[in-house]
Amino acid sequence: MSFSIEEFSARRDQLLASMVKGVAIVPTAAEMVRNRDSHFPYRFDSYFYYLTGFKEPDAVLILIAGEAPKSILFCREKDMEREIWDGFRYGPDAAKETFGFDEVYTFSQLGEMMPKLLSNQAQLFYSLGADAVWDVKVTKWLNLVKDLARTGVSAPEAVRDVRQLVDQQRLIKTPFEIDLMRRSADIAAVAHNRAMQKTAPGKMENEIEAEFLHEFYRKGAQAPAYTSIVAGGANACTLHYNANNTKLNDGDLLLIDAGCELDGYASDITRTFPVSGKFSGPQKDLYEIVLASQLAAIEVATPNHHWNSPHEAALDVLVQGFIDIGLCKGTKEQVLENGDYRQFYMHRTGHWLGLDVHDVGDYKNKQGDWAALEAGHVLTVEPGCYVRPADNVPEAFWNIGIRIEDDVLITAQGNEVLSKGAIKTVADIEAQMAGSK
Ligand code: GLY
Ligand code: MN
Ligand code: MN
Repeated sequence: MSFSIEEFSARRDQLLASMVKGVAIVPTAAEMVRNRDSHFPYRFDSYFYYLTGFKEPDAVLILIAGEAPKSILFCREKDMEREIWDGFRYGPDAAKETFGFDEVYTFSQLGEMMPKLLSNQAQLFYSLGADAVWDVKVTKWLNLVKDLARTGVSAPEAVRDVRQLVDQQRLIKTPFEIDLMRRSADIAAVAHNRAMQKTAPGKMENEIEAEFLHEFYRKGAQAPAYTSIVAGGANACTLHYNANNTKLNDGDLLLIDAGCELDGYASDITRTFPVSGKFSGPQKDLYEIVLASQLAAIEVATPNHHWNSPHEAALDVLVQGFIDIGLCKGTKEQVLENGDYRQFYMHRTGHWLGLDVHDVGDYKNKQGDWAALEAGHVLTVEPGCYVRPADNVPEAFWNIGIRIEDDVLITAQGNEVLSKGAIKTVADIEAQMAGSK
């Protein structure tokens, strides 16, 4: 587990400073039943985890901002009987010492203590509407505090969304986070290379999925970061295909969009390569266009550009390429203007990446302009091209779906491609696949 008391207390201190005064309530996620007494694998809430590093369910962080700032955790109590069945839990004493909170209480003390903690606080920072169960609890506590008015106690006048404050904090990654994201991307990159080596005609998409999952878990990732896409041939033209249950055909391409989660941090990589190990002419033509557009986009993912610059750069190259090979008609300016390219490229070129695969943070600034790229941002760059059969499309390109996606850290000097270990040139792919036969 990657943890540092200094790192996580610094994150809480930053939030406490931006709250100025008031109390914040940040609960973690609930466990979810899969069926009867089986649960889905537990995943903590990203905001809670960002501020605590604490991975157990039934926990909530309370921050008190003001002259004497304080962080308080409520967590499950030690329970030897439950630990025999479910495994280790910290309990308040060990949680306080290990994670560096000022105070820690058991989750069962929460109801009794919260009205007191909310009394005489000017504002409450809480994400109303994010979780109905917590909304009911918080409303009940607020009403209990309001009922104390005649005794001279005041309730918070304003409720502000604590997530909005944390979002901008999470957008700029610290060196600690960058190290984790680099490792997450490294694991996923090696996993993609392994999947590529193991691919051959006649195998099933799910067999190839097993190959990258093998590498994720072997290297210590706790889970895939999102539902993996393993899409052979025409399946790649379905953007969110995830059945992953089709046989791979000689002559088709295979698109894999898969990333892992390492101590909460996501990687998100897509590679597309020939099932046989050798691109056909039309596949290669389209692949080179998508790759060139991706390289052009990465080139402008730097601090002197804004959020939309990589998308604009990718689009420029894609549209020219589509015209050159006969997918679109007209000049580049005309096709950009009339949007005909959307028949083949209908998504944007990336998103912020972090604890969530589609991470938090604004894409525009307060003036409504695209946000400037800054050192510490991590984003994906993922142009693609998806050609469904149609009367206006040369048959040679039918059912070809390609996406190339990397994870890019903006640095003071330019950028670092965190997922650079995953091979992507035609020559490297064909050489690697020839070597694996
Ligand atoms: N894998 C999700 C995405 O690429 O956005
Ligand atoms: Mn992505
Ligand atoms: Mn992806």
